[in-house]
Amino acid sequence: MISRRRLLAVGAAAVVGAVFYGVYKLAPDGEYAPAKTTSTVTNTPTNLPLPQAVRAVDIREIMAVDHGYMAGGVVNPVLLVRRGEDVNVELVNSLGEETIIHWHGFRVDWRNDAHPSFAVKPGGRYKYSFTVRNRPGTYIYHPHPHGLTAAQFYRGLAGLVIVEEEKRLGFRYGVNDIPLVLSDKRVRGGRVVYDPTHMDMLMGFLGDVVTVNGAAHPTFRLPQGTYRFRLVNASNARLYNLALVGREVVRMRLIAVDQGQLEKPVEVKSLFIAPAERAEVVVDLRPGVYELKNLPFDPMHLEMGGHSMPSAGLEEGAEYTIARIIVGEEKGEHLEVPPHLPDPPPPPPERFGKKRTFRLSLQGMQWVINGMFWDNPLRPHVEVNGGEAEVWEIVNDAASMPHPMHLHGFPMWVLERRNSPPQVAAQAVDSRGRLPTDLGLKDTVLVWPGEAVVVAVEFDKFNEPQLFPFHCHNLEHEDGGMMINIRINI
Ligand code: C2O
Ligand code: CU
Ligand code: CU
Repeated sequence: MISRRRLLAVGAAAVVGAVFYGVYKLAPDGEYAPAKTTSTVTNTPTNLPLPQAVRAVDIREIMAVDHGYMAGGVVNPVLLVRRGEDVNVELVNSLGEETIIHWHGFRVDWRNDAHPSFAVKPGGRYKYSFTVRNRPGTYIYHPHPHGLTAAQFYRGLAGLVIVEEEKRLGFRYGVNDIPLVLSDKRVRGGRVVYDPTHMDMLMGFLGDVVTVNGAAHPTFRLPQGTYRFRLVNASNARLYNLALVGREVVRMRLIAVDQGQLEKPVEVKSLFIAPAERAEVVVDLRPGVYELKNLPFDPMHLEMGGHSMPSAGLEEGAEYTIARIIVGEEKGEHLEVPPHLPDPPPPPPERFGKKRTFRLSLQGMQWVINGMFWDNPLRPHVEVNGGEAEVWEIVNDAASMPHPMHLHGFPMWVLERRNSPPQVAAQAVDSRGRLPTDLGLKDTVLVWPGEAVVVAVEFDKFNEPQLFPFHCHNLEHEDGGMMINIRINI
């Protein structure tokens, strides 16, 4: 039986030795080359690295280095926080370029959210101090210096923040609560490279190998029992249609998304998950071999007419295996998930100030939001009133590609999906066209070509005006300027 200690030991060894960026270092030409040391972990049957979890209150400094964030002696630790706790940390920029840490999904003011205009120079520092107001769930910390976000994120500067449950479902981190962070890398001549072409900048940068917690093609062993997987898409641009396949497709119970739990678990066989989206699923695993797979789908890249597919070795909509899970005879814990989850999302606001439409389209080589792009980091592209709720209709052009749209600072309630392409509509669970993942609060919503997603947002009241980005989380689109400021007036 693989004990918790074993998984943790392997996990810890892997974090030191085999985390994807742990074994790659900066080559003189600026590309990432494998280090000479090879890890023994890759040849063991269990090679899923498990990021080490540390309590955020014990962390004073987070140092941005070439391959990741160092905090408390750990690379990219999972930061554990509880609602009501104060986070006081300082970013130390040890990169050779600007950076800033953004707390993706956090309800904080714009200074703590770290608007791109707060990026600090090499050697610089930036202080964060905020109280956690977020609902229990899985969040991300990652860089946000405009124009450099994609490359920094890609080379490993990203980690998870878990806001811990108050009413516990009984899962334990690293035992039966396991993060699966997906990120695709492009390997050329044995090197992981970030070398986007003009076409990649237009379409998004795709890799040809998908890593899970930093390891390529991991296989891991688990005792039989109930598991909670925290699925996180930390890829620059790749969409996944995830399924767990044993002798047949496993029914997964979706319990939480970006901003916490749903009202009830929803049974799903597969899930679309776009960059920055999170989905927590519970599965009962019996002895056998399972594969975490991408099921075939139409990535809808060709909706723009003349443009061709990006130059990836691994087609986005192809069927491929991401990880293998071997479940042994030994007995782990069996857990029941209650039919009504303990921390359901609050109902959407009832009174709305404005209703707005945001149109996503391509103008020349520029992706735009209502014709606007990141032309000036301090320009208030859109102004809203603090303390007011609004309804936003996000409409993607038919001649487009999927855009995962992310709003900083405030969660979104998905009210409706219209004109969804058939592969999306097929997964709808209600008469408003919503998907299972739309049933919880979101901070990132995928909008397919031709589709309209209607969301409600409620803006907090602040005592000084705030700027919060609203952008596409396809990181090449973001760096390319598919981002605008939402100014919160006082
Ligand atoms: Cu995940 Cu503006 O970011
Ligand atoms: Cu964000
Ligand atoms: Cu986009």
